[in-house]
Amino acid sequence: MKQKFITFEGPEGSGKSTIMKTVLETMQNEGIDVIATREPGGINISEKIRDIILDVKNTEMDERTEALLYAAARRQHIVEVIWPALKKGQVVLCDRFIDSSLAYQGFGRKLGLDTVLAVNEFAIESKMPDMTIFIDIPPSVGLNRVFSNHRDVDRLDLESIQFHNRVYEGYKALIKKYPERIKVVDGTQSIEAVIKDTLTLINSLR
Ligand code: TMP
Repeated sequence: MKQKFITFEGPEGSGKSTIMKTVLETMQNEGIDVIATREPGGINISEKIRDIILDVKNTEMDERTEALLYAAARRQHIVEVIWPALKKGQVVLCDRFIDSSLAYQGFGRKLGLDTVLAVNEFAIESKMPDMTIFIDIPPSVGLNRVFSNHRDVDRLDLESIQFHNRVYEGYKALIKKYPERIKVVDGTQSIEAVIKDTLTLINSLR
């Protein structure tokens, strides 16, 4: 497998990061030249932007500022990490990408799909992922996982359930808009089953 850009999407607490870690290890064991990275972040400048966006104290942040910051972090990440890796022939796995902005800022913040797409077009110059895996779990289930176990709660986790439901509906709209690219995996299954389904989809790219 060469030069493939694969992104992972899903609501809060969908288990994306854990799934990606196992997928990465499995692919590495198969001898595939693959890297894993995440948005917003992955590198110094973008991690700093991530801290500003997700800081729970930044309650005054305007939603257009938020959309621009995600796009700025994305641009730097693409230039420094994603494009060079693809150019070298590596497979790139990325935890969240443009669909997160379309779902969270476009639908969650109600900025509109076309507006957020236009802002992001400036950042990504039309280079979309080859495949996007959407880990499908209802927002309430994911949020329960976030609050009951593993990680620090950030500014977006603290949004209302209505916000997270809009994000989820946004993802559903994106799946309809990009049926060739976005593939859905049932995230309510056991973690083993989710990983198996994900690997089957990725292997279909070969
Ligand atoms: P994470 O929890 O998966 O690391 O993602 C951080 C948060 O940022 C999560 O709530 C989703 C949100 N997000 C957006 O709202 N827009 C974006 O473009 C990205 C990449 C993430």
